[in-house]
Amino acid sequence: MGTLLKLTLIGICLAFVAERIVQLSHRLNFSREVEPIDLPNCQLLKGIEYGSEDIEILPNGLAFISSGLKYPGLMNFAPEKPGEIFLWDLNEKNLRPSSLRFSSGFDISTFSPHGISTYIDEKDDTVYLLVVNHPHYKTTIEIFQFEEEENVLKHLKTIKHELLWNVNNIVALGPESFYATNDYYFSDFTMRHLELFFGLGWSDVVYYSPSEVRQVASGFYSANGIAMSTDKTFIYIADSFGHTLNVLEKHANWSLSPVKVLQLDTILDNLVVDPNTGDIWTAGHPNGKKVLLYNPDDLSGSEVVRVQNIHSDNPIVTQVYVNNGSVIQASSVAAVYEGKLFVGTVFHKAVYCDLE
Ligand SMILES: *[C@@H]1O[C@H](CO)[C@@H](O)[C@H](O)[C@H]1NC(C)=O
Ligand SMILES: *[C@@H]1O[C@H](CO)[C@@H](O)[C@H](O)[C@H]1NC(C)=O
Ligand SMILES: *[C@@H]1O[C@H](CO)[C@@H](O)[C@H](O)[C@H]1NC(C)=O
Repeated sequence: MGTLLKLTLIGICLAFVAERIVQLSHRLNFSREVEPIDLPNCQLLKGIEYGSEDIEILPNGLAFISSGLKYPGLMNFAPEKPGEIFLWDLNEKNLRPSSLRFSSGFDISTFSPHGISTYIDEKDDTVYLLVVNHPHYKTTIEIFQFEEEENVLKHLKTIKHELLWNVNNIVALGPESFYATNDYYFSDFTMRHLELFFGLGWSDVVYYSPSEVRQVASGFYSANGIAMSTDKTFIYIADSFGHTLNVLEKHANWSLSPVKVLQLDTILDNLVVDPNTGDIWTAGHPNGKKVLLYNPDDLSGSEVVRVQNIHSDNPIVTQVYVNNGSVIQASSVAAVYEGKLFVGTVFHKAVYCDLE
């Protein structure tokens, strides 16, 4: 090969890599710094030190919190400790969250809980808790029945399916049916970094029921949080690395069709819909580098964003709480209950504050 041709090819490769790095630094917001925004009366939740990745609040004020996620590439302060589900009664906030017991037979030693979702059977008020689990870094969906009298999670079923290859979060549609987001196309550590580097939009959303499993949405950089509108007709999906909140219409046959896409600034993580107002709450990572490359001298911050009137022509996006990591690092979820904001994190503590 001639020298000129070689140089030209090397030049093209370098230009391509440089362009990819620019794209990547944009998607991960490598250089974004945020101004703190405080709320009154913020307090840390007692006993939660190793993550509070997802929070589900039942209408009666009982909250489930998933803690102790082990996930490739993300920090974990207690890698030997199995994951936990905490229960916290928001009507008795001075009490500590309690770590729920599991019925015998469920393997807690490999428990690594990620997204959670609840389903309440209207006939008998039975509460089902669906949990994305990563035993040995694989994906299963665990279905529990919550036995409130004994504070026990009774394990009913483990779901595995080839289409549920790398699930991040779920929204329950029934005791055994749900929509699930696969945040990466590849499960392998190296391949998923290449996926991120090349900006492959291969992440998707899957509908699961015992009788049918299929892909219902695709084309996301990293489909993460998922939630349902209060009237149950729309599904909201957070595309973390796309920085978008996606609205999809849900059809009777469980298909989803795109309605609109809202661009945000943050690397949004989980989504929670306020049952009273329909507002969408998300917590996110202001700067992707800080959360993916943990550095105790340059902590990952937290950012809570509220989206109002998503279905109107002018949704209102508000940064409600922002912290530089001095209080909580790597926020992943924000939920509201009776004038209070609850913020959970991927691997750190959890905090609650008054909403003004
Ligand atoms: C962060 O990401 C958003 C959305 O892609 C973009 O508009 C913004 O310019 C980025 N900020 C920085 C500092 O990279
Ligand atoms: C589901 O229903 C929608 C709306 O009625 C329709 O457009 C779509 O083709 C259906 N999809 C399947 C897989 O049946
Ligand atoms: C983070 O914020 C706190 C309180 O607002 C401040 O004291 C501290 O210096 C900040 N840290 C960094 C690294 O900016």
